[in-house]
Amino acid sequence: MKHISVLTKEVLEGLAVKSGEDFIDCTVGDGGHSQNILKLSEPDGKIFAIDLDPVSLAAARKKIGPAGDRVRFIQGNFKDLKSIAENENITEIDGVLFDLGYSSRQMDEPNRGFSFSSVDLDMRYNQSLGGLTASDIVNDWPVGELIRIFKEYGEERLAGPIAKEIVSQRSEEKLDSESLRQLIADIYKRRFRRHSRLDPATKVFMALRIAVNDELKALEGGLEAAIDLLAPGGRIAVISFHSLEDRIVKHKFREEARDCVCGPEAPVCVCNHKPKLKIVTRKPIVATPKEIKENQRSRSAKLRVATKL
Ligand SMILES: C[S@@+](CC[C@H](N)C(=O)[O-])C[C@H]1O[C@@H](n2cnc3c(N)ncnc32)[C@H](O)[C@@H]1O
Repeated sequence: MKHISVLTKEVLEGLAVKSGEDFIDCTVGDGGHSQNILKLSEPDGKIFAIDLDPVSLAAARKKIGPAGDRVRFIQGNFKDLKSIAENENITEIDGVLFDLGYSSRQMDEPNRGFSFSSVDLDMRYNQSLGGLTASDIVNDWPVGELIRIFKEYGEERLAGPIAKEIVSQRSEEKLDSESLRQLIADIYKRRFRRHSRLDPATKVFMALRIAVNDELKALEGGLEAAIDLLAPGGRIAVISFHSLEDRIVKHKFREEARDCVCGPEAPVCVCNHKPKLKIVTRKPIVATPKEIKENQRSRSAKLRVATKL
């Protein structure tokens, strides 16, 4: 399926793109948002287009490669944004965009493991780097760790029963996407008569993806570096798709917009914290009903924007 970028108009407004300005797109994906930014920053604004997935970078190259030396493609993890910027000699930037998660195209690739119909339980954004897969977690991790990630990352109410059933079934045969999905469906069927519209395996699959890619830590590291790189007046825009990500963005923006970050137990301020940001979106921007109708993926998107002081 072709990836349709979400909240495009809102992102451009949030980033307040002007002619000649330079941006970092930390999740260039298929290049949709970057293409729009390049148009508004004509004639010579630059984009540093980062993605962890070489296949996404190839798709982005097709779309925005014709902009020539206005685009620099970088294969990397935004958790390493500080060192990426050092390598690229970026000391200040006018705006940074994060559009988190995976694209519809990645979802559809059967060997990636992002969808229920995938052949393998993989879920790595960059398979060539090796490392942990969702299959390793499901088939090797102890029950306590499975319960923890299903609860913490998936907010799954049946984390315990699902984890225990995984451990029992995997001793007979290695679990794959289909058998994991079936196992969860069976547990839900036994417990609840009514079915929700959401596939019962959705939360466990999301938890696995977050754990495989250490997504929450990556986001924390990426935000920290991005805020430091912004020039005064520079903008940061973050689109998230689930509550844990949105919470991290909200708290980071709030923390960086405050004068003091001392705990309530401190009688006087000892932190010497200086605010770095002004929050632009008190509440996250969400998609209009029209956009949701045209692009289902946008229904859970939340955009937060802040400006560097
Ligand atoms: C929702 S898609 C981006 C779509 C893009 N904004 C567009 O308009 O076409 C998210 C992209 O982020 C990439 N990604 C996820 N985690 C990443 C990370 N930690 N570092 C770099 N890229 C990452 C994924 O590979 C995927 O291509």
